[in-house]
Amino acid sequence: MSREISTREIFVGLGARSYPVRVGPGLIDGAGEAMAPLLKRRRTAVVSDETVWALHGARLTAALERAGVAALPVIVPPGEQTKSFEGLAEVTDRLLALELDRGDLITAFGGGMVGDLAGFAAAIYKRGIDFVQIPTTLLAQVDSSVGGKTAIDTPRGKNLVGAFHQPKLVLADLDVLATLPDREMRAGYAEVIKYGLLGDFAFFEWLEANAGAVLAREPKALAHAVARSIVMKAEIVAEDETEQGRRALLNLGHTFGHALEAETGYGAALLHGEAVAAGMALAFRFSAAQGLCATQEAARASAAIAAAGLPASLADAARTPFAAERLVRHMAQDKKAQDGRLTFILARRLGEALVARDVDDRAVETFLRQEGAV
Ligand code: GLY
Repeated sequence: MSREISTREIFVGLGARSYPVRVGPGLIDGAGEAMAPLLKRRRTAVVSDETVWALHGARLTAALERAGVAALPVIVPPGEQTKSFEGLAEVTDRLLALELDRGDLITAFGGGMVGDLAGFAAAIYKRGIDFVQIPTTLLAQVDSSVGGKTAIDTPRGKNLVGAFHQPKLVLADLDVLATLPDREMRAGYAEVIKYGLLGDFAFFEWLEANAGAVLAREPKALAHAVARSIVMKAEIVAEDETEQGRRALLNLGHTFGHALEAETGYGAALLHGEAVAAGMALAFRFSAAQGLCATQEAARASAAIAAAGLPASLADAARTPFAAERLVRHMAQDKKAQDGRLTFILARRLGEALVARDVDDRAVETFLRQEGAV
């Protein structure tokens, strides 16, 4: 990537647990120097998946070695199914076999699955050790690597067992996005546009004009989109680390989206970012149906999502119609639901989201049927 792009450093301000997130090209090459001050022994266990390790493992290992740091690889199979109790047992057992102690550091090197799994392993290994995030997907860079949410899935749902455990450092190297498949790039872009939709109209308008450049990985546009997203995430996390209030806004599109993912099997049929994209379009249209937001604003949100090649409706998300009742049942199991009452992130306008508790499930079901569910 163009060396005209300089590295930006964004702080997540959490008192003694504050940490920097660096965004820029070539950061993996400087990972050893960046991490050395955090190490008591010159070694780190690098948790990664087979795909990421094959593409970028040698580069990270060389960078660590240049700084005299040994990389101890813990490589797991790619895919969401690894983010399970079995996957966690495997990773923690390998960390024990490496005789990692509490003064050591784990490096999570991969996309959201690796970050969540390695982060949760760090949260519980010997009652908690430090970790660093080196996210290698757009989605992980702009969302999951920042803010300390770590978790695994259970057969009953996604991210149901986990902990808040903040990393010590995040290195978002824009160069690695060059090898990211276009579909994953678009899925990550859903989380970028989310920031514009939930809290920054000017950024939303910028994205309307620059989506093509971001998705084509044009260096300046990409750097701006990633950095702006992380600045927003850092501000929200600093204000509400454990999601007692404002952090819930980051779940825009997620209540609808998780239900779509549950129905499509949490896999390649509908990627998480794609489900969130369709979920955000639905959240805006549901907001309009509830009289909260103007219909034209909801249409503009959907148009921006569709223009990025992302699903913006139930029909875009799956060929076979969804069953409204089943979707609502999934929503009632969502972590945000309380006593079975549905919580949604809705919109007042483009750039202003709100938390709506106690949403009537019949209104949601009626809306989903209007959207084509059966
Ligand atoms: N991914 C939403 C959050 O970190 O709160």
